[in-house]
Amino acid sequence: MALDFGALRRHPDVEGHGLEASDAADRLILDESAALAAAVDEGELVVLDDAYGALALGAAAAGARGIRVHQDLVTGERALAANAQRAGLGDRVRSLPLGEELVAGARLVLLRLPRSLDRLDELAGLVARHAASDAVVVAGGRLKHMSTTMNDVLGAWFDRVDVSHARQKSRVLTASGPRSQRRPSALGWPRGEHDDDLGVTVVAHGGVFAGTGVDIGTRFLIGKLGDAVPDAASAVDLACGSGVVAAWLARARPALRVTATDRSAAAAASARETAEVNGVADRVTVTRADGLELLPDASEPLVVLNPPFHSDAALHTGIAVHLFEDAARVPPAASCGACGTRTCATVRCSSARSARPARWRGIRSSRSPRRRVTRCDSGRRVYAVDASVSAVSSIPVRRSEWLGRGRVIGRPGGNACPSTTGWLARSEPPPSATRSSRSSSRRSTSGTAERSRSRR
Ligand SMILES: C[S@@+](CC[C@H](N)C(=O)[O-])C[C@H]1O[C@@H](n2cnc3c(N)ncnc32)[C@H](O)[C@@H]1O
Repeated sequence: MALDFGALRRHPDVEGHGLEASDAADRLILDESAALAAAVDEGELVVLDDAYGALALGAAAAGARGIRVHQDLVTGERALAANAQRAGLGDRVRSLPLGEELVAGARLVLLRLPRSLDRLDELAGLVARHAASDAVVVAGGRLKHMSTTMNDVLGAWFDRVDVSHARQKSRVLTASGPRSQRRPSALGWPRGEHDDDLGVTVVAHGGVFAGTGVDIGTRFLIGKLGDAVPDAASAVDLACGSGVVAAWLARARPALRVTATDRSAAAAASARETAEVNGVADRVTVTRADGLELLPDASEPLVVLNPPFHSDAALHTGIAVHLFEDAARVPPAASCGACGTRTCATVRCSSARSARPARWRGIRSSRSPRRRVTRCDSGRRVYAVDASVSAVSSIPVRRSEWLGRGRVIGRPGGNACPSTTGWLARSEPPPSATRSSRSSSRRSTSGTAERSRSRR
């Protein structure tokens, strides 16, 4: 039986134009590995970093059984389960955490190449050390996301790496002859690095946002958190990545309990280790979840968020809107949480006059496709974040007035790093807001999906 790739869905991940549940690279991986898959026994096939189940279910539909799967994102795991159910293949696949049990004794590993070389190194090392000695890895991706350095990373763990012909702008690397030791040797995963300015050690698994470093936006966000809801007994670090913000908050406020949460398993594992190494694990609880799904409305006084704008390689506003909505739902109406952008930081909304929680009304893309703007209406106050990807320093401050929103309350980086600077604009009802500027905002409020070379 052949899998109907068109019937696969991404849900509960963001769906929309340009966001597919499978692509030509998935089909090429399956075609290139078909003979090998037919030759392995039940339980000997492992699938890594399958986005929404195309690889695991494609192999299952071709006859494979006992397929072990690991996907970094909890949303991908749920999509696979739902797709498997719809395809009647639920009994063929089993999701497991990243670890020895996942790959022990495997003879064929199908891998959707991650964009992060660190992630590839961590996955290749796990397979090389624990799979069968004759294990073969068939790893593929879209050409535009591949580089020859990927061959080198696989070559550090395997004796041989073969490269397929390209098909439909996709290619496959086949690695065989696993080695138990990396050549050349390198530090293992996770890794840690101390940030002297923040006084925090950041621990990260391969592929986690900013690795063991601290992104300039994160640094700016932290700089704004000193007086954020100062009487809060607890806080949430939403989309926590390595957990650097959660660890910093817990260290800066010795009585604060922090929930750090991310949909990525690698991020959640990193955040746990970051809390541990900074001596705050007793006050930092880490969860792997989609947004704030585990938290009820109005349950946390402070939410801190440095949001993503990418879904895989696609730049898509929907992914951030989803998190903004949660960030507005979970704090009580009287003091709505905090929010950041790819370039900057935090907006603390205090909607004292509003009985309703603040609602993010949407994200719009301005005329420049590389510049996007979010805004939040909270009662009569409007909070806006300009998350320009390009040189914000070249955009005059009155841009925020043009948006109908008021004064700049923060601008990280200045001219020092124009590619990652941004600002926060907060407005009281803008004194000079005109009818036309408001209606032009409304007209252009819509989700957009665009491709971008840059990535968060
Ligand atoms: C820009 S990074 C910020 C990481 C960290 N807070 C920092 O500042 O270094 C965005 C994070 O959002 C996470 N993320 C994306 N979509 C999510 C979702 N629906 N639920 C939870 N986390 C999500 C990603 O896994 C990523 O770790």
